[in-house]
Amino acid sequence: MPPARGPARGLRGRHPGTLTARGVDPGLDAQLGGHSPELRTALSELRRIKDDWEVDQLRGAVDATVQGFADVAAALGAAVRGGGERWLQGTFDRRARALGNGPGYASIVAAGANSPVLHWTRCDGPVAEDAIVLLDAGVEAHTLYTADITRTFPVSGAFTDAERRVYDLVHAAHLAALAEVRPGKQFRAFHETAMAVLAEGLHDWGLLPVSVDKALSAEGQHHRRYIVCGTGHHLGLDVHDCTSARPSAYHRADLEPGMVLTVEPGLYFHPDDLTVPPELRGVGVRIEDDLLVTASGAENLSAALPSDADAISAWFVS
Ligand code: GLY
Ligand code: MN
Ligand code: MN
Repeated sequence: MPPARGPARGLRGRHPGTLTARGVDPGLDAQLGGHSPELRTALSELRRIKDDWEVDQLRGAVDATVQGFADVAAALGAAVRGGGERWLQGTFDRRARALGNGPGYASIVAAGANSPVLHWTRCDGPVAEDAIVLLDAGVEAHTLYTADITRTFPVSGAFTDAERRVYDLVHAAHLAALAEVRPGKQFRAFHETAMAVLAEGLHDWGLLPVSVDKALSAEGQHHRRYIVCGTGHHLGLDVHDCTSARPSAYHRADLEPGMVLTVEPGLYFHPDDLTVPPELRGVGVRIEDDLLVTASGAENLSAALPSDADAISAWFVS
């Protein structure tokens, strides 16, 4: 795709930065009608493979997002002193507006008991000095390609034992899933691998009422009580890109060079969930990276952000 030029006057939508002829003239809207499902599907499937220019846009979005995460790290003191989640959200979003078009989606800053809430976009809670923070945010480039990255870290620099246990299990699932991202693997393979690692860990902790095999079977899925979302999606002009692709072209398709996708396993223990021991209640952890499928494997575009427990704690609090 050639570099984007600014939209022609009159072709901006109601929302600044959107390239659309809709929302300008109601008469024109009526004539345009909706996109046919067939066109939506065709466009979604065409968007699955990014060309070099698109990959560069995504690299830029990821790099700007890493800068936004660094800004959040520098703002933790102000958040604890009274700014709360709002301050951290504003901090990231300001960077997104300065380096790109803005946040690619409503930024998620979830501290303490908000961390297991999917997705906590209210961002209106306090940030306690002993809290963990789940930060899920992405800068959208001026060309509208967006990053989508999550890190979870302790504000104090040290996880509690229970938080660390959850973190390490999610991290193990993350590493196992990343290893499944390469050409020729089915898209859903990395999700299934993450589910297997998480179900095994939950079983070891005594949280599954059935065997791991039973939980992983189609009629089981007991582990999903604590895993309320998928493990990844295509990424591009939309944060959830290519959503109108047919299943045969998405989850059941093989990965191909040029695809960009997220890998984002997590565990979410709600504060009022009496099926887990008290020390796990209110702990939510997600680790999300942005991957480019290459000819021989995958490149982690967001590798500048470490993901193991000690390294990410030190990255945010040092
Ligand atoms: N930020 C939304 C998602 O991770 O899918
Ligand atoms: Mn995502
Ligand atoms: Mn995300």
